[in-house]
Amino acid sequence: MLILDDVSIEVAGKEILHNINMEVKPGETHVLFGPNGTGKTTLLMAIMGFSGYKVTRGKIFFKGEDITGKTLYERARMGIGMSFQRPPTIRGLKTRQLVALCGKMKKDPDELAKRLNFGDFLDRDVNSNLSGGEIKKSELLQLMAQNPDMILLDEPESGVDLENIALVGEVVSELLDKSIRHFDEPMIEHKKKRKKSGIIITHTGFIMRYVHADVGHVLLNGRMSGASNPEEIFACVGKFGYEECVRCMV
Ligand SMILES: Nc1ncnc2c1ncn2[C@@H]1O[C@H](COP(=O)(O)OP(=O)(O)OP(=O)(O)O)[C@@H](O)[C@H]1O
Ligand SMILES: [Mg+2]
Repeated sequence: MLILDDVSIEVAGKEILHNINMEVKPGETHVLFGPNGTGKTTLLMAIMGFSGYKVTRGKIFFKGEDITGKTLYERARMGIGMSFQRPPTIRGLKTRQLVALCGKMKKDPDELAKRLNFGDFLDRDVNSNLSGGEIKKSELLQLMAQNPDMILLDEPESGVDLENIALVGEVVSELLDKSIRHFDEPMIEHKKKRKKSGIIITHTGFIMRYVHADVGHVLLNGRMSGASNPEEIFACVGKFGYEECVRCMV
């Protein structure tokens, strides 16, 4: 689904990410850990194609196509979607209008909003005066309408209260097509049915209670660790810290 081949990214004249290699297969969900300021958001912004995030080395492939030179809207149309850590407020644009646009006017914003108990906020300007948790729901609502094949989530549970984390987790699971496995269905068969992929940035790991993560990585000082078991990484970081954890993974 997504391949980063030796990618380096520069922001405001400074190289933030160095020689990143990563492969997300169809149906896989990867989790990205790492300390503040290490380049996690930068990585997602560069995959999405924001113009301030310059690829100075390597290539990005999506669905087998080289998208390194493609614009953000071309990537969105190809099926990449993102929920932001800190999305901007957009005055003069109602959340209802944005959700309708994300769903190409084919999906009813009220129906989608019901799933997130977000109906009361549809007629506000996008993210205007929303609480931290409400902003995360607004981001998810747009993704539900867009229904992308590759979903980039930047700290989707940050600022979300404990009750709503379950709801957010369930919706993310649905977005990633992680349907419940029937008890007599072999795991391998169940996994084959999944087509959507995701990268989730999390500090707290709460989202992993609701969304099954297949692969984990640690991003440290702009460098990516190898792929490993996400639960093990989370436990290891909690016990020994990021640096020690990465040392074990090499
Ligand atoms: N537009 C920019 N101009 C200057 N520096 C930037 C810009 N965007 C990001 N940076 C710097 O790049 C580094 C990586 O930032 P990034 O937002 O990717 O970190 P992060 O890993 O997502 O951190 P956090 O866990 O705090 O969200 C930081 O040192 C940040 O200050
Ligand atoms: Mg960040």
